[in-house]
Amino acid sequence: FENTGEVVFACDSQGRLVEINPAALQVFGCDRPEELIGKHLGRDLFLDPQDYQQIHQSLQTEGAVHNREIQVRDLRGEPRTLRISATALRDQKGNLQGFSGLMRDETEIRRLEEQFFQAQKMESIALLAGGVAHDFNNILGGILGYASFLKMKLPSDSPLHPYLDTIENGARRGAELTAQLLAFSRKSQGRSRPVQLNRVVREAHKLLRSTIDRAISVQLNLEEPLPTIEADETQLHQVIMNLCLNARDAIPDPEKGRIAIATRQVTLTGADQLKHIHARPGRYVVLEVSDNGIGMDEQTRQRIFEPFFTTKGKGKGTGLGLAMVYGVAKHLRGFVVVDSNPGQGSRFSVYFPASHKQECQASEKSSGNLRGSESILVVDDEAPIRELFQAVLEEHGYRVQLAQDGQEALELLSNPSYRFDLIVLDMIMPRLGGRALLERLSRNNGHHRVLISSGYSNQMENLESLIKGPIAFLRKPFRVNQLLQLVRELLNKPLPA
Ligand SMILES: Nc1ncnc2c1ncn2[C@@H]1O[C@H](COP(=O)(O)OP(=O)(O)O)[C@@H](O)[C@H]1O
Ligand SMILES: [Mg+2]
Repeated sequence: FENTGEVVFACDSQGRLVEINPAALQVFGCDRPEELIGKHLGRDLFLDPQDYQQIHQSLQTEGAVHNREIQVRDLRGEPRTLRISATALRDQKGNLQGFSGLMRDETEIRRLEEQFFQAQKMESIALLAGGVAHDFNNILGGILGYASFLKMKLPSDSPLHPYLDTIENGARRGAELTAQLLAFSRKSQGRSRPVQLNRVVREAHKLLRSTIDRAISVQLNLEEPLPTIEADETQLHQVIMNLCLNARDAIPDPEKGRIAIATRQVTLTGADQLKHIHARPGRYVVLEVSDNGIGMDEQTRQRIFEPFFTTKGKGKGTGLGLAMVYGVAKHLRGFVVVDSNPGQGSRFSVYFPASHKQECQASEKSSGNLRGSESILVVDDEAPIRELFQAVLEEHGYRVQLAQDGQEALELLSNPSYRFDLIVLDMIMPRLGGRALLERLSRNNGHHRVLISSGYSNQMENLESLIKGPIAFLRKPFRVNQLLQLVRELLNKPLPA
């Protein structure tokens, strides 16, 4: 009675608590038994008075209730899910004198079940979205590439330029959307390196000042120093922007609006896993964006991470912002926690695993000469992309051979009458894919410079070890200048002897 984790209780005939064990104090959030004794089960504790009516009815007619699920509100006002079993106490005439029984607290387990269900749902949506986005990315790659190529070919005073700009802008907008989808499905190209979250927050904050109504106060509350996190800086920046723009959209009256961006570090233990299934023990850096806007009800909260879920009007919301935030956090082995109630604002906390590595700032890219005369093998199964590579590279003086899959590339590479200074390689191809080709080449002890071009970053993991020679990654869709830059950088690097 004293030490069990379950609530043991007895009530009088009116339904008022007359006896409780210590576990009841914890479940109902109070310190002393006197706070609970005398409280009416139905009126003071149950959320739904009907639950009490039904239990009372069963006790009267059947003498007992078994494992009935009920919602209660504890003395701190928090809702909890309990399971109750009770037996009637009767006097000799058979009148109900009261009842006693057990209540088991299932709040945590319910929360976990719910999260588990949500996680599975998100997983299947991610699979679908990732597939569509990948195909789209290839299509847009062709459009974007050819538009910028045409612009290069046209004399600078041609009246056709505005049309090409329109095509380019449209394709770029599409590419931004697919990039968000890919980030959500965790297939996006993200080059993770150690970054200081606070620095990225400050940069985003500057940008936000110009996009958010000045009347809204945006406060920074950054803990220093913080450990770094291993993330893609551009994606991190988007996460912050997405959360802050959502906060802005949730504020009806800018004059009263407040947004706070905070960072801090926390160490989670095994016990925290009970609160969130993705919370592995360890050190985390937390990004917290809170607002005093309209908040969300339970129904909305359950769906906010789904891609294309939006409550904003047509043309206003894409419903991709939080999907992207979710995907990026998950990709980095972190997670997102949302606290929100209608009318009470919202708080989004993104947990990123802390890293012990130092931040290394990316060096400025030199934009030197982008031409050359070396010979390049382009391997890609999409004819338009292949031809785009050829057109651009030949335009800049290079000699180009094409192969439509790894098999064809292998044949060209083993033909002694060809010699290639660089291989431009797609990853996903029929017959023989990019990775398989690299494996074959490494078995033959070949030395190559390789430029991997793919829309998927997870395809690019652990490739460095396969190749003896310089390697670089080009994310599809790409701009012509990016391609030329990387090609030149690679060709300037020596091959191992
Ligand atoms: N800070 C917030 N306050 C209230 N509701 C929010 C907040 N952030 C997100 N939401 C809800 O989540 C939905 C999805 O957000 P998001 O994925 O960014 O898409 P979008 O902003 O395009 O609607 C929003 O439409 C809104 O209903
Ligand atoms: Mg949004």
